[in-house]
Amino acid sequence: MTTHADHHRRPTVDVPPPPPATSLRWAEGALEVIDQRELPHRLSWLRLRTVDEVIAAIRSLAVRGAPAIGLAGAFGVVLSARRHTRADGRTDEAAVRADADRLAAARPTAVNLARAVSRMLPHLSHGPDAVLLAALAAVEEDVAVNRRCARRAADLVEEMLPIGGLRILTHCNTGRLATAAVGTALGAVLELAGRGRIAEVLVDETRPLFQGSRLTAWELEEAGVPYRLLPDSAAASALAGGLADCVLVGADRIAANGDTANKIGTYGLALAAARHDVPFLVVAPESSWDHTLPDGSGIEVEERGADEVTSPGGRRVAPAGARVFNPAFDVTPHRFVTALVSEERLVRPGAPAPAPHEREAVTRP
Ligand code: MRU
Repeated sequence: MTTHADHHRRPTVDVPPPPPATSLRWAEGALEVIDQRELPHRLSWLRLRTVDEVIAAIRSLAVRGAPAIGLAGAFGVVLSARRHTRADGRTDEAAVRADADRLAAARPTAVNLARAVSRMLPHLSHGPDAVLLAALAAVEEDVAVNRRCARRAADLVEEMLPIGGLRILTHCNTGRLATAAVGTALGAVLELAGRGRIAEVLVDETRPLFQGSRLTAWELEEAGVPYRLLPDSAAASALAGGLADCVLVGADRIAANGDTANKIGTYGLALAAARHDVPFLVVAPESSWDHTLPDGSGIEVEERGADEVTSPGGRRVAPAGARVFNPAFDVTPHRFVTALVSEERLVRPGAPAPAPHEREAVTRP
């Protein structure tokens, strides 16, 4: 039966959603990345034409975030394959593999980098265009995987906290800038915002390089989501004071037992969240899991230069000659993690064994 309302209903057309904003792209024979060092002052694209330029961009954090550096590394292999392929179409595979080794070693902690680089190598024998297609496919895959991670994490948060406006605390930047697009933990925050569930995001400034205040705040501004910045040192008291309902972070490498390496400061946040009964969720793709490591003790933590601590933003804040401890990451033991969410699994490392009917959805590491 047709009703009056039906006559006035607009015809439904399948309009594809707009393409998500990306943080890197292939353009006219080069990799272009948003230069994250310039944010929040300027949105500019950096053009990378050589393997050395890609390595420098990864090391200097012009491009950063585990999935994004993996993709940059993959395009580094493309650039190398194009450079080392002769007019007769034959690729000097040994030369490309040597470049791939250098790319994979540009930063040691995020497993995504070495993994994405090595995924390009089987395509070398089919020529540089095949490697380019594989890198472009990896970008598409990253976007699809992040969408799934973000939705699944948002579903879990809604299941745990079904009513009211949510206050989410996050650390570092896990948004579209840290991935090809969409983001992981911040992707989940934006998904929750789209569902009308976010009251406020508490953004750790994330010293010493301020990925929270420079990048996450910039993304939240862009998305029109309410947020407040806080010094990292205020996070524990924010959790103690009941200012956050949940903590959402990303990961650079997750060991088989769920121990998680992420931006320095994550461990302290997890301890405070556990002490104050605030759920602590890690949102990361399967490509961040390293099943070769039984636990987090084998994860190499990158140590960065002293000047990042003694001269933030180029202004000296410590006596000349001050000695510095500047690890870029820390490892959170799995017992402090409420759940790890990927595109495929929900792992509750500290939880009792799941009931038989839950076994499909909930996996113990
Ligand atoms: O040193 P960075 O800025 O590359 O560190 C990034 C992080 O620690 C992120 O939390 C992690 O890579 C996940 S990004 C989706």
